Amino acid sequence: ISILPFSAFLTDNFGRQHSYLRISLTEKCNLRCQYCMPEEGVKLTPRAQLLSTSEVLTLARLFVQEGVEKIRLTGGEPLIRPDVLEIIAELRKLEGLRTIAVTTNGMNLAKLLPKLKDAGLDLINISLDSLVPAKFEFIVRRKGFHKVMEGIDKAIEMGYNPVKVNCVVMRGLNEDELLDFVALTEKKPLEVRFIEYMPFDGNKWNFKKMVSYQEMLDRIRQQWPDLEMLQTGQTDTAKTFKVPGFKGQVGFITSMSEHFCGSCNRLRITADGSLKVCLFGNSEVSLRDFLRSGSSEEELLQIIGAAVGRKKKQHAGMFNISKMKNRPMILIGG
Ligand code: 5AD
Ligand code: SF4
Repeated sequence: ISILPFSAFLTDNFGRQHSYLRISLTEKCNLRCQYCMPEEGVKLTPRAQLLSTSEVLTLARLFVQEGVEKIRLTGGEPLIRPDVLEIIAELRKLEGLRTIAVTTNGMNLAKLLPKLKDAGLDLINISLDSLVPAKFEFIVRRKGFHKVMEGIDKAIEMGYNPVKVNCVVMRGLNEDELLDFVALTEKKPLEVRFIEYMPFDGNKWNFKKMVSYQEMLDRIRQQWPDLEMLQTGQTDTAKTFKVPGFKGQVGFITSMSEHFCGSCNRLRITADGSLKVCLFGNSEVSLRDFLRSGSSEEELLQIIGAAVGRKKKQHAGMFNISKMKNRPMILIGG
């Protein structure tokens, strides 16, 4: 709970204070995850229309000045952007910014970790949907399982705690690995986060492919009946649990079966500079265009405030979302 009055620009009509900004650094990725992008790939935005290093930093500065305390860098794969270290190092200088996080597929992580840590990176989420190399390759349509595992181990070794591992659970694909993922938390200080499969353009979502939180929990409880629920913060999206005696923990992101719109504190900026006030909403405003047309800080704040003011109370429900036009996940940034 902060003592200062929170910025009116970042407070919506339902009293939600947006203190968490997710910035996508690129639309490109060295993997092709089935749930994130269509097989044929996506049409990439020409480079000149993506935010430059200084535009990313200008926007970040503005949001932090208005009360954002946490920034997560996403993509695409954020670690393939050449200026990622520079961006993190510059963000680190922003007074008021408490946490700098990254969501990565882990492919380049082992190699980059020492530099990322030096630059000031606080938190790492790594995507990993299978512990079986061949299945990993099927899901992400590329090779690289061992590089990701190496990245995870290196992150642990470098003291990141907890290292979060994101696992999107899909029926008939990796649902049979739930218990193996939980078992991974016995010796490693990981937080494995099972994510309900969400519909985005081009990912062929259907209700039957989604494995719900309740179903996952039931299955895990059959093996570990004493699974304990942990306390979580007000704006945490994961419901977290622990098997007594295990080093790590398990979380569930229930975006579909039990949304957490009521406590949403997130805003997103896409790699092409659009502000998205809701992951599942298609309303966007191009901050890039205002920046490039020379808008003043005050004008930008008005634009941002107006967009936040239009944020809906909650998303339209999973069936409606699945029919709605939105970007594919790779062009949103998680
Ligand atoms: N459903 C659920 N999570 C998704 N992600 C991407 N696409 C989806 C989807 N369709 C999340 C995963 C991945 C991160 C980059 O975005 O957690 O780890
Ligand atoms: Fe790349 Fe992550 Fe999308 Fe997979 S989920 S294609 S790793 S951006």
